[in-house]
Amino acid sequence: MRIVETIEEVRAQIAEWRKEGRTIGFVPTMGYLHEGHMSLIDAAGENDRVVVSIFVNPMQFGPNEDLASYPRDLEHDAGMCEEHGVDLIFYPTPEEMYGDTFYSYVDMNVLTQELCGLSRPVHFRGVCTVVAKLFNIVTPDKAYFGQKDAQQLAIIKRMVKDLNMPLTVIGCPIIREADGLAKSSRNTYLSPEERKAALVLSRSVFLGKKMVEEGERDAKKVISAMKEEIEREPLARIDYVKVVDLDTMQQVERIEGDILTAIAVFIGKTRLIDNFIYNEK
Ligand code: PAF
Repeated sequence: MRIVETIEEVRAQIAEWRKEGRTIGFVPTMGYLHEGHMSLIDAAGENDRVVVSIFVNPMQFGPNEDLASYPRDLEHDAGMCEEHGVDLIFYPTPEEMYGDTFYSYVDMNVLTQELCGLSRPVHFRGVCTVVAKLFNIVTPDKAYFGQKDAQQLAIIKRMVKDLNMPLTVIGCPIIREADGLAKSSRNTYLSPEERKAALVLSRSVFLGKKMVEEGERDAKKVISAMKEEIEREPLARIDYVKVVDLDTMQQVERIEGDILTAIAVFIGKTRLIDNFIYNEK
């Protein structure tokens, strides 16, 4: 496994693999890898070569967000990648990605104007821009993203479709701790007391999912039951609980077709997300 810091080195390696006729799977990450990322890397193993990028992208953090404190540990990440058969880690600096000046952005309407886009106004422009850049650098056949960031996954699928990017985007299921908490690099911010309180997210998601699976079709009823569950936890503060159309991210009143029920909840100062998808057959 190689670790490279420059775009030129990535391009040279990819060119070599392309000459040999290899297919390339790509997993973009911000590092501090956990089993959720490993499930994406394992899925990318269906390609001949696997590339992982590790880059805490400043452009997707708002001014009062956790860019400076976002956890970083390259040695640990490299060890996990090696164990899971990664061939190349791209570990650029912000200067390598953005230079001294940077004027171009990839932005999107509609899908970005709901859910996390409302509380994190610059976030998805930063995500789309960096992911478009990474796709241009790595030129993968397939790229893998977690369903935990369901809005991000929908936005990236849409960007690839709208801008005719020549790759397939694959969504992979949420990976949870044994007690239900969705795996996230941000779980490391939680104190032991908050870690316990954070279980209210998965409890609320499982409750909503059960209601829908048992036939409830009124989004308002599902949302209020889920909110009630969260409000029972004194350390939790709701950012949103919403039911949206899976493709457009617009709120729906009736649960029909493919829907996403998504929540964002502050546990102390840490903002966590979770969700479930319901596909009506
Ligand atoms: O999901 C993430 O870790 C990031 O948003 C991504 C896709 C790597 C872009 O920086």
